[in-house]
Amino acid sequence: MAPEALEEIRAREGLSEIRAVTEANGQGAAFWLPMTPADLPAVMAVAEEVHPDYPEDAAIFAERLTLHPAGCLCLADSQGVAGYVLSHPWRLYDIPALNALLGAIPAGASAYYVHDLALLPRTRGTGAASEIVDRLADQARASGFAAIALVAVNRSVGFWQRHGFRETHDVALDRKLASYDDAARYMTRTLEGVAADR
Ligand SMILES: CC(C)(COP(=O)(O)OP(=O)(O)OC[C@H]1O[C@@H](n2cnc3c(N)ncnc32)[C@H](O)[C@@H]1OP(=O)(O)O)[C@@H](O)C(=O)NCCC(=O)NCCS
Repeated sequence: MAPEALEEIRAREGLSEIRAVTEANGQGAAFWLPMTPADLPAVMAVAEEVHPDYPEDAAIFAERLTLHPAGCLCLADSQGVAGYVLSHPWRLYDIPALNALLGAIPAGASAYYVHDLALLPRTRGTGAASEIVDRLADQARASGFAAIALVAVNRSVGFWQRHGFRETHDVALDRKLASYDDAARYMTRTLEGVAADR
């Protein structure tokens, strides 16, 4: 992506709220931007590179973007899309199966679910991942969700622990984790200041 294209991206609606997060990695600035359908091929390319063991169809990405656009962002730098996050409200202690359509966001969803956060190596270690986790937590808290949940893969448990997530075990959950692999862990983080009975 040429620098002019980055400027075009900057001009997208809502971008005024988004600040540069990575200046220190030799790639120049990077921005978390609202994802659009036009970004999906580039987002898929990142997914194929970062998650070769957890392939998901384009339809899965497209559906999440349609169902909850506010939870879908991509990290763009001068070379293009360098990362993404997909997230949406969901039932606490429930795991959407891998590579399966959701159908709809459940009514009365009690938790906020991070389906995937993936960065290409060139933007790792810059704080961009922590930046978006903090923003999603703030959004989820502001929307009244009492917890955030996710399935940690790729030895990312330590990263999530640093962000206040803890492993949560349950027989039914552990069975559903089988659609991932033996190392996958269901993790939750309570959002302070929100009534737990939501
Ligand atoms: C997981 C991922 C998003 C983290 O991105 P990152 O760029 O390393 O994150 P940050 O730079 O914001 O790191 C924040 C802190 O977490 C630490 N950290 C990062 N990954 C870690 C890990 N696997 N275990 C323990 N700590 C980790 C960093 O050292 C850093 O610590 P510091 O604040 O003391 O410097 C990134 O490595 C990635 O995309 N991995 C591949 C995809 C993936 O596994 N995603 C998770 C799916 S659930």
